[in-house]
Amino acid sequence: MLPTVVRLAAEARAFADAARAKGRRVGFVPTMGALHEGHLALVRAARARAETVLVSIFVNPTQFGPKEDLSRYPRDLQGDLRKLERAGADAVFAPDAGEMYPPGDGTRVRVGAVAEPLCGVFRPGHFEGVATVVTKLFAIVGPSVAVFGRKDYQQWLVIRALTRDLFLPVEIVGHPIVRDPDGLAMSSRNAYLSPEERARALSLVRGLDLASRRFAAGERRARELERAARDTLAPAATSIDYVEVRDADTLAPIDAVVGERAVLAMACRVGSTRLIDNAVLGEEAFVLPP
Ligand code: PAJ
Repeated sequence: MLPTVVRLAAEARAFADAARAKGRRVGFVPTMGALHEGHLALVRAARARAETVLVSIFVNPTQFGPKEDLSRYPRDLQGDLRKLERAGADAVFAPDAGEMYPPGDGTRVRVGAVAEPLCGVFRPGHFEGVATVVTKLFAIVGPSVAVFGRKDYQQWLVIRALTRDLFLPVEIVGHPIVRDPDGLAMSSRNAYLSPEERARALSLVRGLDLASRRFAAGERRARELERAARDTLAPAATSIDYVEVRDADTLAPIDAVVGERAVLAMACRVGSTRLIDNAVLGEEAFVLPP
C-alpha cells in the first residue's frame, strides 16, 4: 500500500497521535525528497526501531542561501511514494512552505559551536534553517526515534546538539553513508552531474580513501592527512570549499589525531554542483571497492 500522504501539520500530528494511542512507537525520517537508496536505508533503520514510520518530504527554503539551488532542487513525489512503499513507510508529511512558515512566523533555532565551522562558514544561515525546520517537524510529529544520515555529518551533530540542548525527548540515530558501487556517496544532487562530472566526483572518495590508508599506516598529523585528500581532490574539483580533519564529536580544530578517531570532512564543487563527503578515520576501515 502506498503511504498515506498528509499536507497539514495537524494531520501529521493526528496520524502520529493515533499510532501512539495504539501503543506504537513513531519513527521519523526527515527528507527533502528525490529519494535514493541512502534515504531508503534510513527508512528501514527507522522501521527496525519503531512500529510506525513517518517520512517528511519538504524542500525547506530557510536552509538555502540566495544563490543556492532551491528552485531547481529535484522533486518527484510520485516516484518517492513508490520507493517509500517498498521501504516500509506508513505516512508521508509533504507540507507546502506556507504550512511550515505561515505569515508572522519568525522564530529561528540557532545551534552553537558545532554549527559554525565547515559548511557553517560556506553556507551562512544553512544550519539555522535546518535546525529550525527539524525542531518544527519534531514538534509536529513527536517521534520517539529519528534517523539521520552521516553523509551530512555536521548536520547530524547539529541535530544531536539541538535535541540535547532543548531536552527534546527523541533518540537520534546516525546512519552510515550509503554509497554507489563505485564509492560515490548517494545524493539527490548527483542528478545534476554530467557523466564526465560524475567521474570527476569520484576524486572525493579517492581522497578519503587515501587519507584513511595513511591513517591506518600510522599518520596522525591532521595537516598531512588533509594534504593527501586535498591533493587527490584538487585536479578534479572545480573549486574546493574545505578539506579538514576535526574532532569527530565537537568539530573542534585539531593538529593531530590524539584519540582513536577524527572526522575528515570535505566539500567541493564539480561544475556547478556542490558535493560533500566524509570519513571517520579510525572508525571505519575506508577502502574503495577493488
Ligand atoms: P536530504 O538531503 O533529503 O537528506 C535526508 C536525510 O538523508 C539526511 O539525514 C541525510 O543525511 C540522509 N542521506 C542523504 N544521502 C545519504 C547517503 N548517501 N547515505 C546516508 N544518508 C543519506 O538533509 C536533508 O535532506 C535536510 O537538511 C533535512 C534534514 C530534511 C532538513 O530539511
